[in-house]
Amino acid sequence: MPIRRIGVLSAGGDCPGINAVIHAVVKKAILDYQMEVYGIFDGFAGLVEGRWKTLQYNDVSGIMPLGGTILGTSNKANPFKYPCTEYGKLCFKDLSQEAIDNYHSMGLQALIAIGGDGTFHISDGFINKGLSIVGVPKTIDNDLSETDFTFGFDSAVWVATEAIDRLHTTAQAHHRVMVVEVMGRYAGWIALHSGIAGGGDVILIPEIDYNIENVCTFIRKRIAAGKKFSIVVVAEGSKPQDGDFTVLRKVEESHDQIRLGGIGHVIGEQIEEKTGIETRVVILGHLLRGGSPTPYDRVLASRFGAAAVDLVAQEQFGLFPALRGNEIIPVPIKKAIDKLKTIPLGHSLLQVARSTGTCLGE
Ligand code: F6P
Repeated sequence: MPIRRIGVLSAGGDCPGINAVIHAVVKKAILDYQMEVYGIFDGFAGLVEGRWKTLQYNDVSGIMPLGGTILGTSNKANPFKYPCTEYGKLCFKDLSQEAIDNYHSMGLQALIAIGGDGTFHISDGFINKGLSIVGVPKTIDNDLSETDFTFGFDSAVWVATEAIDRLHTTAQAHHRVMVVEVMGRYAGWIALHSGIAGGGDVILIPEIDYNIENVCTFIRKRIAAGKKFSIVVVAEGSKPQDGDFTVLRKVEESHDQIRLGGIGHVIGEQIEEKTGIETRVVILGHLLRGGSPTPYDRVLASRFGAAAVDLVAQEQFGLFPALRGNEIIPVPIKKAIDKLKTIPLGHSLLQVARSTGTCLGE
């Protein structure tokens, strides 16, 4: 029996390019395989609660350039640990059987789950319980293992780079230090790429604990050399050699409760105090996740979406299409979970940064 009905959902934090995946999935599934596609709302919440709609060919026309996701998403709805309220108090329940029952009552033969490591973790749980799932690797952080790049990353780097370019002119005009904080969780990919592209003078990443004295010495030396301003790009997951992460908040309902953020203000204050140079801080935050995907991300998302449908048609489940070099290859979802892809300390881009005079806070 060929696969005739599939579901698609987007879970975890949104990012530019999710709609490009949905666009590719729906069109290819209909055109190449005469499949029906059900779009499930708000990530795994829609699977638990039975909220979905049929996606026709015309429903996805024109969605390629749209940011966000037409299906909605959730980074709290883990069916194995579903947040509920009882007697006014937050509690967690295993509602995975409800999700499985809905999968079967919808008549799904396969599910395409677009997401990052949290989504892949949940998908792995359902694969172990017999569901047929194919993943699509998504996140601005680019921290998913087994793929060179996730879609969404290029768009985030583009926005961060433009922001750094714009901050350059005002930093120059006022002879200030501008600190720019970017997202990325425990990986410094966004900071490193946008920092190099935007010509950041200091780039701080979670993979290299920084020494604030060394950062300030570097800034003082720039001033002594006649450079009256400095741009510091800091990843939200950066931490000092003798300290810990800066946590913005805890999201109790979330599987991964910690939300990083605020390190920009911590180092901004220290730089101003220690160097005496007026310093301003900009936190780019969710701006990096919004807006239209870059052409690179649209193409990558389309390739991933089309490859995911092929895997489903070939009944190769438990896999996701990964980018290796310029090839898309199938990789087991299991291999990508529980180990984040951080920047290896021998990565060539770190050497590029150092050899172009960038301070990495070491
Ligand atoms: O994983 C994507 C990401 O944007 C991280 O870079 C960031 O730390 C986190 O999600 C923010 O999550 P939330 O949307 O819950 O604030």
